[in-house]
Amino acid sequence: MKGKLQSLLDKEKLPRHIVIIMDGNGRWANRKGLDRISGHREGMKAVRSVVKAARELGIKSVTLYAFSAQNWKRPKEEVNALMELLRQYLIKEGDKLVKEEIRLNAIGRLRELPSDVYKVLIDTMEKTKHCKEMILTLALSYGGREEIVDAVRKILSRGDISPEDINEESFSQFLYTVDLPEPDLLIRTSGEMRLSNFLLWQLAYTEIYVTKTLWPDFRKRHLIKAILNYQNRERRFGLTSDQIKKRHIQ
Ligand code: IPE
Ligand code: IPE
Ligand code: MG
Repeated sequence: MKGKLQSLLDKEKLPRHIVIIMDGNGRWANRKGLDRISGHREGMKAVRSVVKAARELGIKSVTLYAFSAQNWKRPKEEVNALMELLRQYLIKEGDKLVKEEIRLNAIGRLRELPSDVYKVLIDTMEKTKHCKEMILTLALSYGGREEIVDAVRKILSRGDISPEDINEESFSQFLYTVDLPEPDLLIRTSGEMRLSNFLLWQLAYTEIYVTKTLWPDFRKRHLIKAILNYQNRERRFGLTSDQIKKRHIQ
């Protein structure tokens, strides 16, 4: 059913690519007197709900920051629980993704994932590779600085690229996000005003929306509110407001 909030959305101005820093699972659990792992389990419900909502709204690309390169330093039990939740998610959701025409993609140092998680991730990506309606990217063992370092390593190891060949356009071809559109909207839950090493290169002109809502509480209505807020922004990309308005008229 299409709600009142959804009917306010301008279908012509939907963000093409939404990226989300899913934060606040631990605090959600803490407030309820539960352990942090229960917060992560609850966070998976928000993942399902938001993926479904984004698909229904016609968003073409969604990237979720699920596990950072720095998150490996968390207590071992928490890391293990997160990996197990990820594995279960991939096993359970595979068929649903195919049915909903959602292609699964992943960015990050994926080889650092436990081998069983890596395997089911690759299998699910393979299984959904023909899906065309939406691309869902999971950032796993992901760091923005690591991504830039990896890009430089790829360039140097090619051995046939000279300094003059490097510019913003060509450099971005070596990033993990080579197949993805530029992020239009970044959502961070739980109120933190930082990037935490997420998509450092790609977020150059992304609109940022921070909500106090903790990730396990985040649902379709919160996503719609974020998009409505985005639709009221003026993206200037360094130009003046007048220049942007003229562009819209042309
Ligand atoms: C986000 O929630 C999930 C991951 C980083 C894996 P947190 O676990 O960071 O929750 P807080 O920030 O401690 O509340
Ligand atoms: C960012 O959240 C990473 C993910 C959401 C996966 P963190 O909770 O790890 O970030 P900090 O520690 O608050 O910066
Ligand atoms: Mg956090």
